[in-house]
Amino acid sequence: MPNILVVEDEYDQCIELQKILKRERYDTDIAQSASSALTKLKAEHFDLVITDMKMPEMSGADLLREIKKTDPDLPVIIITAFPDLKDAVELVSRGGAFYYIEKPIYEVDKLNKLKDEIKRALWIRRGGDNASEDSTESEEIYEFPEIIGNSPKILQIYKNMTRIIKHDVNPVLIMGESGTGKELVAKAIHKYGKRGNQAFAPVDCSTIPEQLWESELFGHERGAFTGADSRKIGLMEVADKGTLFLDEISNIIPAIQAKLLRVIETREFLRIGGTEPIKVDICIITATNKNLEEEIEKGNFKEDLYYRLNVIPLTLPPLRERKDDIPLLVEHFLDKFSKEYNAEPKQITPRAMSALRRYDWPGNVRRLENFLRQVFVLGEGNLIDLDDLPPEISHQPQGPVELSIEIPEGGVSLEDIELQYLRAALKQTKGNVTKAAELLGISRRQLQGRMKNHNLERGDFK
Ligand SMILES: Nc1ncnc2c1ncn2[C@@H]1O[C@H](COP(=O)(O)OP(=O)(O)OP(=O)(O)O)[C@@H](O)[C@H]1O
Ligand SMILES: [Mg+2]
Repeated sequence: MPNILVVEDEYDQCIELQKILKRERYDTDIAQSASSALTKLKAEHFDLVITDMKMPEMSGADLLREIKKTDPDLPVIIITAFPDLKDAVELVSRGGAFYYIEKPIYEVDKLNKLKDEIKRALWIRRGGDNASEDSTESEEIYEFPEIIGNSPKILQIYKNMTRIIKHDVNPVLIMGESGTGKELVAKAIHKYGKRGNQAFAPVDCSTIPEQLWESELFGHERGAFTGADSRKIGLMEVADKGTLFLDEISNIIPAIQAKLLRVIETREFLRIGGTEPIKVDICIITATNKNLEEEIEKGNFKEDLYYRLNVIPLTLPPLRERKDDIPLLVEHFLDKFSKEYNAEPKQITPRAMSALRRYDWPGNVRRLENFLRQVFVLGEGNLIDLDDLPPEISHQPQGPVELSIEIPEGGVSLEDIELQYLRAALKQTKGNVTKAAELLGISRRQLQGRMKNHNLERGDFK
């Protein structure tokens, strides 16, 4: 269980905060001065420090400075009163504080915010989105049968998904280029989490007409506006106890951005025309293929909403950065299509497979899937070869092949090795010099030269 140190000179405040943290199932300890905090930090392991700003003798800012000297990665959240707000902001932007929260903190919104920030701080402390391979080595990783891939980058995604599921933390913001599997990942987080048998309500933010946004999300009462002849339950309510998936979140209109922020903070809302606030317990997952920080710069996206949504970031790598997954994906899709179309399974030749690996796949897994579907449906025979691939894929420049070579003690004859490769290529192509040269990545003339050196005749391979 994460261990949190609360530093606050007023005893009652300490105890109050400790109670709240205990309810959230954190271990806690308290220190009533910065110097006592530093002693405790030396003696015991803590994952997070929450400190008051104003304390006699040594301030929260001084404590932060001392902590940063010995453990720069230990997150520190500052609690501050209004007059010191400017200093606190400065400590976050330049002093290495993780976050600040303004007093009084015992308001629903602020406490929720604090809880989110604690989760985010602990998440990052544990390694965050880019945790290195070994720091999480002994961690249990769930399996997600729908998601194909075992490259290091995708394994890291499984690890982070497992943590999200185990801790039931949200909001989760899934980022990644188009076709990298954002929706697939969102569905899996829902399905394998504790909300799996509750509703999963997907919202495609790019297709909702402006005037329908509010009633889609929040619903409306009967007679709330002309045409509202019955009560409508909005998606927020549909998703209660389950998951609300806001896809392409950058397209959400400004008026709704503010309302959404409010719902995330209070976890309650009003139906249009309603007077009773409705409380919901929802896991919010959002996805985007845009860079939201750029959208903020352009004035299209509210900055505070971004920080609110980005509590747990999950960045899906493009396919070109995990090419080792391509063969698995190809097999998976070919298998899937043969079942879908009730057709004979199709195989792919090694050289066609290596062409698929060499290609960079703009459009990522979706593009690969669509492409294979086309080849599967239109291609003749049960073997997919280079000729079945369009030139932009089949004519990729050949990269170096990674061979693991161990030379025996007695040494080798390079001449012999070359001879064996020349023979193998000519055998495979039944003496076709052009095709054999292609396989070996050299020109026809070069191959002919080498064949001459080794006294090889193409006729011997027909
Ligand atoms: N790792 C994967 N294993 C198996 N199928 C995958 C994987 N990643 C993506 N897919 C498939 O690729 C297609 C695109 O995935 P998805 O819709 O989740 O992408 P996306 O990131 O939401 O894309 P967009 O930004 O265009 O909406 C889907 O059919 C999905 O099932
Ligand atoms: Mg999508």
